[in-house]
Amino acid sequence: MDRLQKTNALQERAMKSMPLGVNSNGRFWGKGCTPYFSRGKGSHMWDVDGNEYIDYRLGFGPVILGYAYDEVDNAVIEALHSGVTPGITCEREVEVAEAVINMCPAVEMVRLVNTGSEATMNAIRVARAYTRREKIIKLEGGYHGGYDYVLYSTYAPPTAYGNRRDPIKIPASSGIPRALDDLIIPIPFNDPEVLELTLKRYGHEVAAIITEPMLGNFGLADPKPGYMDFLRKKCDEYGILWILDEVKTGFRVAKGGAQERYGYRPDLSTFAKSIGNGFPIAAYGGRKEVMDIVGKGVTQGGTYAGNGVGTAAAKATLHIMQTQDVHKHIDSMGTRLQKGLAQVFSEVGIPCLISSIPSIFSVTFGLEKNEDARDWGKADSGLYKKLAAKVFEKGVLIDEDPREPFCLCYSHSEADIDFTIEAFRQAVKEL
Ligand SMILES: Cc1ncc(COP(=O)(O)O)c(C=O)c1O
Repeated sequence: MDRLQKTNALQERAMKSMPLGVNSNGRFWGKGCTPYFSRGKGSHMWDVDGNEYIDYRLGFGPVILGYAYDEVDNAVIEALHSGVTPGITCEREVEVAEAVINMCPAVEMVRLVNTGSEATMNAIRVARAYTRREKIIKLEGGYHGGYDYVLYSTYAPPTAYGNRRDPIKIPASSGIPRALDDLIIPIPFNDPEVLELTLKRYGHEVAAIITEPMLGNFGLADPKPGYMDFLRKKCDEYGILWILDEVKTGFRVAKGGAQERYGYRPDLSTFAKSIGNGFPIAAYGGRKEVMDIVGKGVTQGGTYAGNGVGTAAAKATLHIMQTQDVHKHIDSMGTRLQKGLAQVFSEVGIPCLISSIPSIFSVTFGLEKNEDARDWGKADSGLYKKLAAKVFEKGVLIDEDPREPFCLCYSHSEADIDFTIEAFRQAVKEL
């Protein structure tokens, strides 16, 4: 019997009611191979056919503790019974704001919102208002949300990016008004010379440089030593705000995100994903002096901002992180997996680049270095995709898109990791 019989039937049905049969384009992997979720527990998920997978996508990163994590879910259930969207501030919101400030060294004031896109959108507005400037610099391959004025030079093949000294800005979608081209300046990651050149030309018109701590949506390129310090210094020199987009890294790469792990001091930071173990909650915050303009002529509202479900999840998730060795466990499981995968590929003589840290990393073929999206564009995506499809048959779920990282969670066990390494070993042999 076809192991994906119900999955494929559901896809046929879904495609009649939803474009591509999904609610977010990245969930469509093609006809006959797109998974449809039935349930998850801990590090495992089951598709609608009942096939079980050890999950390293974890919903694009947020499930930091594990699916259906009792302590979090019970807190949410309790909140549900008290009414979740009063549109009036409750103590739990204050507690979550305090926890974020305690955990993240660059955050002195914070606002809670619902999605990463909302967080970056508001941070950019604050930066524009604070500096009285309009242009934004972003890094090629960086992703900051699904709205028009940041959707540039993200998904496009890096061969289209033009000369690195004078990058072509590439809108990621039809429907983005051409008038917005003027407001965004994409530059290659890890290139201080191009950053300097760009600032000499546009520096006094730039409100903010928005970066992820590493390219977390494009094959995980880490910053070269000194690059982020240089960026911080240049921001100060030109009166530009640095927005560190920690939507993917926040509460994942350390309790206090990349700003704790690497000592970064951005002016504004954005968070989502791991803050609530998969429940919809996000935050933006930063220096008091900057955040203090919110509500003083700078608008930000939202019916669901600080809602009971998201804040109950965040309160419980952050409490668990503060009282248990969540990150130590994740690091140890990620290290075991990284070592095992490196061993598997070296056994068969396939050169493989495993980039970034144990809690979030990429496996890339055909590259010796990955310093920016232009490097990553030369990777052998075909081999990665074949492997992803093979391990999927064997009960291991990684994203079929090689730009998306492997993520680890608190529920991954040594047995999960060893099963995964063996699945890769078999898959490599079969290929
Ligand atoms: C770094 C980063 N910023 C922003 C976003 C947008 O977050 P959301 O999908 O919650 O709107 C994402 C989503 O993947 C992200 O990875």
